[in-house]
Amino acid sequence: MSTVQLVYASIATFGDGQIETPGTQREVFNIVRRSRANNPDWGVVGALLFGDGHFLQVLEGEEDAVDRLLDVLQQDDRHRDLRVLRRATIDEPVFARWSMKFPTMDERMREVLGLNLTRTFEPYRLDAERLNRLIALLVDDPELA
Ligand SMILES: Cc1cc2nc3c(=O)[nH]c(=O)nc-3n(C[C@H](O)[C@H](O)[C@H](O)COP(=O)(O)O)c2cc1C
Repeated sequence: MSTVQLVYASIATFGDGQIETPGTQREVFNIVRRSRANNPDWGVVGALLFGDGHFLQVLEGEEDAVDRLLDVLQQDDRHRDLRVLRRATIDEPVFARWSMKFPTMDERMREVLGLNLTRTFEPYRLDAERLNRLIALLVDDPELA
């Protein structure tokens, strides 16, 4: 069995894309809460980033478990256009401490994401190097909830 790190991006189908808006925040927090409740049973850890109506999620665990969870996520109509950005075999999960970390999207993150240029978070356009830097920030950054 191998441990994998899978990163995908998707587009939220609810709300106005802004985490500050109460209705949007409620939906996203519900997802985070369910993830934290379920992921210990899945044997999966990771992080979820939300910004400008997009999700970027890192899932780490045994390959079978990650793939089965991915099947569930594909069926969830709270997001669409789920696209896998990375699937890599890893020695150890980097998010081992979190069932689902929910970091804030801060200025450093926006810079790494090139948001000073494009203004909105478009995770589909991340190249490998930016994705590496983003994952490092997700590990370091404080959580929103
Ligand atoms: C962007 C996004 C990320 C999600 N991440 C997870 C996750 O990491 N773990 C999980 O169990 N469910 C996650 N879900 C929810 C699942 O699609 C599904 O609704 C949930 O697992 C069903 O479990 P429940 O019956 O306990 O609510 C996510 C949903 C969305 C839209």
